[in-house]
Amino acid sequence: MQAKAREVYVPPVLQDLRAGTAELHIALEKRLPFFSDTLDSNAFLRLMQAYYGFYRPMESALLDSGVIPVDFDLAPRLKAPTLFNDLRAQGLSVEAIARLPLCQALPVIDSSAACLGVTYVLEGATLGGQILRREIASRLSLNADNGAAFLDIYGAATGRRWRAFIEYLGSRSLDASEREAVVAAARTTFSCFERWLESREVLV
Ligand code: HEM
Repeated sequence: MQAKAREVYVPPVLQDLRAGTAELHIALEKRLPFFSDTLDSNAFLRLMQAYYGFYRPMESALLDSGVIPVDFDLAPRLKAPTLFNDLRAQGLSVEAIARLPLCQALPVIDSSAACLGVTYVLEGATLGGQILRREIASRLSLNADNGAAFLDIYGAATGRRWRAFIEYLGSRSLDASEREAVVAAARTTFSCFERWLESREVLV
């Protein structure tokens, strides 16, 4: 499903990212259970626990990497705190959340380019969230107030924040090898996420 948000200019690195990850996106999208007939509240909770188990260590790794570009403000884009609140709203205790398994096999973040590649995937996922939130609201009556805020994390600002991210990406001067590193990190992020979700047995 690739209905493109309004964009002014597609920088070369974004063209590379799309070419390099489109297949991985389609494959993962097919296996996610958001539209599955068997998705009930319990399966959704298990799915969001698995998401938390990836986003939490992934974002910590970004923060600890020491290679976040100095002019990039990651803090307002962190999503694990929202997932944490969603799990609380769905009835999990703080202690139960602290005991959740966390993904260990994460992409290596050893350059600003790698940091941007990982961030592209985590930011891009907010676009699909706009479709998923409607599905989960109508099917499970869960929304931003009662346990599904993650799917609508940027709310009405989703398109604007995506365009701001793309503009930022386009403003970076990246040579060919750095662009390759961006794409490699994005691809690894997709595959690590899929493998993790598979290991948590939440995929279709
Ligand atoms: C069933 C689940 C999903 C659906 C239905 C879905 C749907 C979409 C749609 C419709 C777009 C394009 C939106 C637009 O341009 O306006 C999009 C973009 C994107 N999604 Fe997903 N998505 C899903 C899951 C994911 C996941 C789990 C990730 C990564 C963790 C992800 C990463 C991305 C990225 C990086 C883009 C940006 C592509 C680009 O325009 O460069 N998506 N998704």
